[in-house]
This record gives sequence, structure tokens and C-alpha cells, in this order.
Amino acid sequence: MAREFSTVGVVGLGTMGAGIVEVFARNGIDVLAVEISESALERGRATLTGSTDRAVAKGKLAEADRDALHERVRFAVGLDALHSVDLVIEAVPEHLDLKQRIFAELDRVCRPDTILATNTSSLSVTEISVATSRPNQVIGIHFFNPAPVMKLVEVVRTVVTAPEVVADVEALCARLGKVDVTINDRAGFIANALLFGYLNHAVAMVESHYATREDIDAAMKLGCGLPMGPLALMDLIGLDTAYEILDTMYRRGGRDRRHAPVPLLKQMVTAGLLGRKSGRGFYTYQRPGSPVVVPDEATPPATEAALADGARAITKVGVVGSGTMATGIIEVFAKAGYEVVSVTRGAEKSAAVCEAVKTSLNKGVVRGKLAEADRDAALGRISWSATLDHLADVDLVVEAVVEELSVKKALFASLDEICKPGVVLATTTSSLPVIDVAMATQRPADVVGLHFFNPAPVMPLVEVVRTIRTSPEAAATARAVCAALGKTGVVCGDRSGFIVNALLFPYLNDAVKMLEASYSTADDIDHAMKLGCGYPMGPFELLDVVGLDVALAIQRELYLELREPGFAPAPLLEHLVTAGYLGRKTRRGFRDHSHR
Ligand SMILES: NC(=O)c1ccc[n+]([C@@H]2O[C@H](COP(=O)([O-])OP(=O)(O)OC[C@H]3O[C@@H](n4cnc5c(N)ncnc54)[C@H](O)[C@@H]3O)[C@@H](O)[C@H]2O)c1
Repeated sequence: MAREFSTVGVVGLGTMGAGIVEVFARNGIDVLAVEISESALERGRATLTGSTDRAVAKGKLAEADRDALHERVRFAVGLDALHSVDLVIEAVPEHLDLKQRIFAELDRVCRPDTILATNTSSLSVTEISVATSRPNQVIGIHFFNPAPVMKLVEVVRTVVTAPEVVADVEALCARLGKVDVTINDRAGFIANALLFGYLNHAVAMVESHYATREDIDAAMKLGCGLPMGPLALMDLIGLDTAYEILDTMYRRGGRDRRHAPVPLLKQMVTAGLLGRKSGRGFYTYQRPGSPVVVPDEATPPATEAALADGARAITKVGVVGSGTMATGIIEVFAKAGYEVVSVTRGAEKSAAVCEAVKTSLNKGVVRGKLAEADRDAALGRISWSATLDHLADVDLVVEAVVEELSVKKALFASLDEICKPGVVLATTTSSLPVIDVAMATQRPADVVGLHFFNPAPVMPLVEVVRTIRTSPEAAATARAVCAALGKTGVVCGDRSGFIVNALLFPYLNDAVKMLEASYSTADDIDHAMKLGCGYPMGPFELLDVVGLDVALAIQRELYLELREPGFAPAPLLEHLVTAGYLGRKTRRGFRDHSHR
């Protein structure tokens, strides 16, 4: 029989502690909430009240239930109040010495059978446990932010945690309506080990002015379906907490440079910019603790104003290529009212592309998303050609031919000869340097990257890649075109992986390395990322969809360009590709899809 927990103590009522109190009290468990001072206690109480009031306002919690919830919580200053609780969860700042001191004190104050748990994100639970005389009753219970919302709990057992303590805590998680994964004591556990390299990399992008905070966040939300972008997430986590987690992971996790906190982070923490909790971090908030972002001096002007900034008028667009991307891009432009000239390598290919565009538009009609008249009008705007000469009078060319530099360079050299002056020449390459393509022409200032995502008619994001030679007008034109297509254009520099792939694939590669190290299972890792971080798919699900060969190729590019040891492709990924296990397309990747 699992042990009954009727009263639990929570130490520290900051970002996490206040949420953890709410989770317990919502599930009928009495809570003793402890802080270091009266003022901190008041702040914690206000956080709890604010959160439950919001839940009531949103119709997620009945008023009577809120009142009952509050009656279950008692507040106290100092650990002495915890003498008779069944379990304590500590959620004080991420410092080992502080946590060790608190655990030593808890060990003295609490009943001998009380379980002592830490919510640490990155410190060693083992090192915390040895500050007590009962390390077998010490365990990690790692909640995710915001605790009342996120379903995942990582249960961290050390080599001495008693099995019945693990079982009791697992049963408790189930009672709280959480899904737990039980793992060993390793820096960052599952989710943070995979998340923080990505977050730190995003901060580095801001620091180097590679892209704006808004564009980085929009790219990851729209390109990967994440609930929030990395910089908004840093603000939610708290920059001080994030700094400590990175620092610990760097020191405990093999000194991977990707975990060395980006200097900007330290500067922001020193300057008191801690994120939402202080009212300002990467973004500015209405007031400390508020989730509402308000404009500040870094907020970009409204799109239209920026677009007026030298964007050229575009009415006629050439699309070169006959693959999936070209087909989707033709459809997107034609639907948005542009006159489109499609150029392929022959009449047969043109016929096939035309058929594919028709089929896709017809699907829109069947689903009621597109009127028949609009479909016909869109088709009427497209002309089909097998020669580049028909691009002489277009205003914009979008190239979507095979991903080979020599082919693209030859094509751009031809476009340079054929196209009128002032035309913007765009490549959809996802991995080649745009500058290489630009330098194949005599007009590199007019060349940009327009990286559409697959399927182009559906995905709302386009990465606009500016090389060191791209003119502001060409970049403004590209952005304006994206807006006219109903897409969000995010501007970034000309580096391998642009924004999305550079942030996404190393994370996927890290997940493979974690599996390879037998730290956890593919199922648990997928669970952790979905339920702990709100990802729409876990890393192994996504790898099987994207294709392991594609992932490996992108990861190799990133590694080659950045020479970052942590970016080296996971050997397991290489082996699976060699073995022909490429994901869904071969019916086997990380999982067997043969009977689905
Ligand atoms: N922020 C996150 O997203 C997140 C997610 C999961 C886990 N964690 C972990 O949770 C823990 C708390 O992080 P946080 O972000 O909530 O920090 P925080 O800074 O928001 O809150 C810490 C709280 O602890 C209180 N405190 C400090 N010393 C104390 C003491 N001696 N006794 C009682 N209370 C004391 C502080 O007054 C503060 O209210 C850390 O170990 C962190 O790694 C954080």
C-alpha cells in the first residue's frame, strides 16, 4: 500500500514553490508553505491568490473550490513549522550550499520518517542528500513551470534512495494528476539536459544580433509549434535561475561549451533583469510577475511601417523548380494574388507540377477553405514555362531546385543575365550559404534567402536570410512579400541552419545521445518533452517524421560550420542511417512503423 501523504511542506514560494503549493492544495492535500521572511511570504501568498483567481476567471476552477484550496494552505516563516509534515519539497534558489543547509536543518526539524524532496533542476540530489542523516529518504521531485499546468514530474532517485520512497512518490504524482518519469541523478535530468543548450544558443543569437528576440521566438513557435519561444521561456523560468542551471550543467555535465552561460545572461542578472518576476528580462512586462508583455525601446515598429522602408513593389513572381517546395510556393503566391511564372526543366515536369497545384487547390475547395472562383482565379494567374527566358520581366524570382550548390550557382548566373535590374533573387536553400549563391551573380545586393517550410501552403513561417551583401531594400522587400502572403517573415543572418534548424537539430541530436547513453527510454524522453515543455511531438517522434538522414545531414552541416564539439552527430544516428532505418518513410526509424 502506498503511503498516505496528508500534509506536505513547501520551502520557498518563488516561481516554482508557489505553483507547487497550488498543485498540492488543489488535490486535497494540506500544505504548510514556508518562506524566509514575512515579505517573501506575502509575495508567495499573492502569487498563489493571483493564480487561483485567474483560474476562476477563466472558468477552470469553481469559486468554492478556490476557497477550499486556500483553506488547506497555512503560511509560516522558518523551517521549524515543518516538524510534523509527511513530505517536504524544497524550492529555494539553485545554490548547492543553500540547499544543503536547508536539508540539514530539515533533517533536524522533521519527523524521522518524513521524506525530503528537492525541486532542483540541475544540482546533484545525491550531494544534497548527504547533508542529512537520512539520504535514503531524500529524492528529487522536479516539477515544470508553470507547475499547475505542466503534466510532467521527473522523479529523481539517487543510488541510496529507498525503493519504497520512490514508489510512494510515484503514487503521489499520480494522485496529483501528473505523469512521472523516474530517472537517475544526472545533471539536468531529461528535460533540462535537452532544453538548456537550446535556450543558451538562442540567447547567443540575441547577443550577436543574429536575429531579434521577436523573430527568434516567432521562428520557434511557428516553425516547430512550440508553446512559447526560447526567450519568452527564459523570462518565465527566471534569468537568475536559468543562469544557475546552465552553470551547474556546465560544471556537472562534462563542460559542454553549449552550457557555459552566454555572457549577456550574467549581465542581465547583475542588472536585475530577471524576467517576468522582476518585470523585465528579454521582454518588458506590465509589472513584476505579470505575464503581459508591453512595448519597450527594442520593440520593432508595426510591420507596415517597417515594410514601407524601401520595399520594392512586386506583382509578378517567377518560381524555378518542380519539387515539393516549388509546387507549394507556386500555390502560395498564386493564392495571394501574384502573377506567377513557373519554370521547370520540361513540359512533362510542368504538367506534373500543374496537376499537383490543382490537386492541392481542389483539396482546399473540398474542405470549404477556398471558393471555386478563387481556385480558378489562382490557377489563371499561373503560366507554365520550360525556359528561364520567361523570367525577364518578373519582379521576384524564388529558386527551389535541388539542394546542390553547383546547380544553384549556375542557375543564379543565368538569372543574372536574364532578369531585369531591380529584381529580387531569392533562394529557398535550407543548408547552403546564401552568399555563395549571391556571388554567382553581379548583383549580390539583390539576393536573399526565402526559406519556406514544408508544406509551404500550410506553414506560417518564412526565414528571410540576409547575407553581408544583401541591401536593406531587398530584405525589406522580402519581408513585405512574406506579409502579403499571410506569412510571418523572420530575418536572420546567413549561417548554417538559419534560426529554426540551428536551434532544433542539436536538441534532437542530444536526445539521440541521451538514448545512446541508456539514461532513459525513447518513450520517456518523448513524454518528458511533450508533458514537461509542451512540445507537440517528442524528439524521437519528430526524428522519425523528418527522416533520420535529413537530420543527420543538417547536423553535419552545423557541426562543420560551427566546429562545436557538442554538435558532432550522435553515433547512433549515423548507425541508424547506415542501416537504412530512416524513419516513417522506410517504416522504421527509432520506432517500428511497419504495422501502422
Ligand atoms: N523557474 C523554473 O522554471 C524552474 C522549474 C523547475 C525547477 N526549478 C527549480 O526550483 C527551485 C526554485 O526556483 P525558482 O525559479 O522558483 O526560484 P525563485 O527565485 O523564483 O524562488 C525562490 C524562493 O525561495 C525563497 N527562499 C530563499 N531562501 C530561503 C530559505 N532559506 N528558506 C525559505 N525560502 C527561501 C526565496 O525567498 C524565493 O521566494 C530551483 O532549484 C530551480 O532550479 C525552477
